[in-house]
Amino acid sequence: MTTSTTRTDLWKDLRTQAARLHSAHLRELFAADPQRFAAFSVTAEGLLLDYSKQRIDGSALALLRALWQACDGPSWTARMFAGEPINHTERRAVLHTALRRAPDQPVFCAGCDVMPEVAAVLAQMRSFCQRVHQGQWRGASGAAVRDVVNIGIGGSDLGPRMATQALGACRVPGLKLHYVSNVDGAHLAATLADLEPASTLFIVASKTFATQETMQNAVSARRWLTAALGEAAVARHFVAVSTNLPAVAEFGIDPANAFAFWDWVGGRFSLWSAIGLPLALAVGFDNFERMLAGGRAMDRHFLTAPVDANLPLTLALLEVWNTDFLGAPTRALLPYSQSLEFLPRYLQQLEMESNGKRVDRDGRALDHPAAPILWGEVGTNGQHAFFQLLHQGGRLVPCDFIACREPDQPLPGHHAKLLANCLAQSQALMLGKTLTEARAELLAEGIDAARADTLAPYRVFPGNQPSTTLLLPRLTPYTLGQLIALFEHKVFALGVLWNIDSFDQWGVEYGKQLAGRLLPMIEGKAAVAGLDASTAGLISACRAC
Ligand code: F6P
Repeated sequence: MTTSTTRTDLWKDLRTQAARLHSAHLRELFAADPQRFAAFSVTAEGLLLDYSKQRIDGSALALLRALWQACDGPSWTARMFAGEPINHTERRAVLHTALRRAPDQPVFCAGCDVMPEVAAVLAQMRSFCQRVHQGQWRGASGAAVRDVVNIGIGGSDLGPRMATQALGACRVPGLKLHYVSNVDGAHLAATLADLEPASTLFIVASKTFATQETMQNAVSARRWLTAALGEAAVARHFVAVSTNLPAVAEFGIDPANAFAFWDWVGGRFSLWSAIGLPLALAVGFDNFERMLAGGRAMDRHFLTAPVDANLPLTLALLEVWNTDFLGAPTRALLPYSQSLEFLPRYLQQLEMESNGKRVDRDGRALDHPAAPILWGEVGTNGQHAFFQLLHQGGRLVPCDFIACREPDQPLPGHHAKLLANCLAQSQALMLGKTLTEARAELLAEGIDAARADTLAPYRVFPGNQPSTTLLLPRLTPYTLGQLIALFEHKVFALGVLWNIDSFDQWGVEYGKQLAGRLLPMIEGKAAVAGLDASTAGLISACRAC
């Protein structure tokens, strides 16, 4: 069976457009239209999105925009913002936008206005941050907090970790943030090696408070702390963020030090909730609120901007074009900002956990691939690693460049070089270099004609590699909020266009189930039985050492 989306005439028309544009070279598109940059770029909310280097033209774009209407995009958007349970497999609302909404604008979930609860937790976070920053929150032996360790994984780790790095320029002095996620004991052990129990605060962050990795790390951290300071110290050194407050209490964390959030906040959308507590500690609550304001501005933009000037929607439509019509199985995310070092990892969860799906909203198998494989690295580092393949590897890899006009760390001499590299890469990927140009270049270097003929093929670049460039004025809490919400809405819009539920993650569950079954066998508490030969062989090998 196929999805209704693919059956539409629009989808067929788009295939025809793709066949037409498949052989067109971006060089030719630019040569044919000197206004191409103006026609295929949007400036909104202070952000500039240049998508003129995408293999798209006006006719294809018009069809893609019509697809959004045909998929009832505006009505799905209204339903999400209104708190309807659009995550239908889990029967949950998708209301991360309520976390950054103006407090005087009610939003109802199952008949209840959620805004008072949101405001109450934000107030609790503000007060906690103040107490820690002003040295009023003391450890069991009276020491002020110097190190905060966030224990969480996935959405309970990647967002605050990414944002803490991104906003390094706003760091509150005297407080160091650490993030532990992996169940590999090496992660926790390496983090604790340099810390003093007396001045360390742990945040156990888990929506479910049942995730194996997080609970194991929390138990080990607690053992480390109590070995030095005794059981009674737990209340002064552990706080928790969760939707599962009974489990928090059972772990021994004082309910007064538990920060709640709600099942209508998806893990990968939870940075705006109390999951952002380590970030708020790192950069101060005022900066956390500025980030919320940036997210709120992007919500407004997504809701109100017309289709042709809508940043998240434009990114989503380009992704559908590249993935489903040009056949690109992957996309590279290339932030030219060291501060955005963790953005690729964060977006991997946001995009691939949301839209890496095989069935549509009616449970029918998709007949077209959904989310592309996202990967990436900061520029200029990536240039010296995998860019060779982007230029000459013969694969179609759409690239997202992200850059800031102004640096967040103004060391003289650096930023112009960073920008020059970013722009040069998207230009080179677009233009390429012909055999004639390569040969002429070699001759101009003084190389003789015979050798130039030999070497020229090595210096040919096919070009025509599509890219977008997103230019931020500067990386600040506000623009970071805009950036994250921009990608969140892009993910949502893609779910609508692909007719999938972007808010469940059943694909992650199967591995967890099997790990639960294998654990007693690896620990030697159960017989190795009922397994395939490979898994049984590997378990025996693990047990032998
Ligand atoms: O990876 C699956 C997942 O459920 C994510 O969606 C979530 O962010 C992560 O695990 C962590 O879950 P929790 O916050 O419940 O510990």
